Amino acid sequence: MSAQPGQLAMADSGALLEALQEAHRRTLELVDDLGDEQMIGPRLPIVNPLRWEIGHVAWFQEFWVLRYYHGQPPLRPEGDQLYDSARIPHDARWDLPLPSKADTLSYLRTVHDRVTAVASSAGRKAQERVGGYDQHYFLRLALFHEYMHAEAITYTRQTLSYPPPKLSLGASTANGGGAQARPRSAAEGDAEVPGGTFILGSSPGSGFVFDNEQWAHPVTLKPFRIARCAVSNAEYAAFVEDGGYGRRELWSEEGWKWREASGARHPVYWRRESSGRWLRRNFDSWVPLEPRLPVLHVNWYEADAYCRWAGRRLPTEAEWEAAAAAEPAGQGGLSERKRIFPWGDEPPTPQRANLDWRNGGCVEVDALSDGDSAFGCRQMIGNVWEWTASDFGPYPGFSPGPYKEYSAPWFGDHKVLRGGCWVTRSGLIRNHYRNFYQPQRRDVWAGFRTCAL
Ligand SMILES: [Fe+2]
Repeated sequence: MSAQPGQLAMADSGALLEALQEAHRRTLELVDDLGDEQMIGPRLPIVNPLRWEIGHVAWFQEFWVLRYYHGQPPLRPEGDQLYDSARIPHDARWDLPLPSKADTLSYLRTVHDRVTAVASSAGRKAQERVGGYDQHYFLRLALFHEYMHAEAITYTRQTLSYPPPKLSLGASTANGGGAQARPRSAAEGDAEVPGGTFILGSSPGSGFVFDNEQWAHPVTLKPFRIARCAVSNAEYAAFVEDGGYGRRELWSEEGWKWREASGARHPVYWRRESSGRWLRRNFDSWVPLEPRLPVLHVNWYEADAYCRWAGRRLPTEAEWEAAAAAEPAGQGGLSERKRIFPWGDEPPTPQRANLDWRNGGCVEVDALSDGDSAFGCRQMIGNVWEWTASDFGPYPGFSPGPYKEYSAPWFGDHKVLRGGCWVTRSGLIRNHYRNFYQPQRRDVWAGFRTCAL
């Protein structure tokens, strides 16, 4: 039996195996056209050399499924010295004796075949717990990790001006999916979300959850108004053209430091022609800026400054999750019941959310009305990751999962993003999924929506 994408947190072995195979094929496709040198690339403070990244995906699966859970010996004696992200500082990854692309892919294939073999063999072993977790937990951990790196490989291709990947699934346009948008429907303005007690986070019994989502706990929210749509390129261009990047009063202290150091005058992949027309770089080509697509590749400081200019603010992550997951209750409060996705508990479909590279890029901010939340917020899942006002921190009673470096090292200096983007896998993303990046990151697929003050 196979589970729908989006239900993988609860899926059985057959569905997990299918998903692992599909993720593996997609990882291969993502780098299929790149040569050995392209798969090293320039030393940058953000992205990884792709030969390292692919090797790391293989190593992670090998480490958790084959070595940690099944007690197998390492496949490569030098594996930990090459690919353990917790041991090897980012900057050192270009100096490693990384195997060739062919050798790296062969390692990935070997790991994948062995993981498939152990996951296929039914038996008591799969039920056993190692460190408190069964085999399914580690298979999901490996799968979701591969999904996350597939997204990172894609933004690396954007960062390095490589062509868009050629995928056998999903991608139907090559340069941003604006053409795929459905007819526009009125989705302007704010949704009103009542205040009250909201249960933030994941509850035990909801399948695989990351340690940073544990556990659901009550928070008190005041009533708030949140934009039904993400901020569009046209809206953001008005801020840029109003001199937003030169006005100190619009920026936080940290944000202004970043702006001065970077010299930024507009989003990183924008360029203005002498005619005044804005272009944006989409992978390896420049396209006219699409006014109705969401603004993309802006960092937290830029989002924060835009909000000040617009007389708005970013939502907190609790507000974001309530707008996506709660339902209105009697007496004007919030329901105890939470939806897994904005539209309900059924898995994502192309009509509800732009995920899985399906449109080859973003769709217009008011497309996909079938995915609206109970309060009428659109595209809270898919299209662009959304910066929130919140610092990434532990929920009360946090305790790290087996993969201790997943969350805890990043508490404090990262900001929370919610909702996934056009590249994010539908098997991974849910309302309560917390992503986190440092506030200066402009390379990731991030935009934002705003709240009324
Ligand atoms: Fe990783």
